[in-house]
Amino acid sequence: MAHSLTTWIVENVQKSQESTRSTLIKKDPGETMNRTLLKIAQPVFLASLIGLIFLLFRESFATAKIIHLLALISWFAGLFYLPRLFVYHAMTDEQSVDENLKVMEYKLFYYIMTPAMILTLLTGIWMVELWRWSMPGWLHLKLALVLLLLIYHYQCWRHLNLFSRNNNCNSHTYYRLFNEIPTLLLIGIVILVVAKPVL
Ligand code: HEM
Repeated sequence: MAHSLTTWIVENVQKSQESTRSTLIKKDPGETMNRTLLKIAQPVFLASLIGLIFLLFRESFATAKIIHLLALISWFAGLFYLPRLFVYHAMTDEQSVDENLKVMEYKLFYYIMTPAMILTLLTGIWMVELWRWSMPGWLHLKLALVLLLLIYHYQCWRHLNLFSRNNNCNSHTYYRLFNEIPTLLLIGIVILVVAKPVL
């Protein structure tokens, strides 16, 4: 099952890379320039949109919470999936698979996980600001778990760099265990934000 999933992922990434490569070969330098501009324009557009939403709805707790939930779901998609890719990466000896996994890991970390993490934190701070910085006990405990989550995110970045420099020495079993950590943190955080125990 895991093997066929990896094969499916790798085939799709290969197809997309081939199409990107052939596009780049066929297109003139102006076209390549447009792609670079697009790469810059997309995050600028997204940041402006979020900034605008913030300015328009800055007093709305519901808006902050909706974006908070959407952002943390995207962040967790990456926190769950990136270490899975590390498992496949630690199991492969094939150069083409290695190259494809490097691209997937890089894009997942830099294009999805990290922006989603920033948005989760910013919207969390937004809500606390709407509470005029009065933080109940459960929120302090939640923030301690969020700190652990940030350390985990940093560890993901370190492992990503190990793979990208061909320096990984950890086994796939190590990454399988590593993969369980965000689940435990998520369970703890959700219990705290829903039950709001008096601490
Ligand atoms: C700087 C970091 C964060 C701050 C300051 C923060 C703050 C908050 C606040 C003030 C609320 C509103 C609670 C309420 O409605 O009573 C909230 C909701 C929530 N937060 Fe965070 N948060 C942060 C990060 C996270 C992270 C990393 C997660 C991921 C697990 C998370 C998960 C949730 C969930 C699931 C809710 C919805 C709870 C509900 O509907 O009552 N938060 N957060």
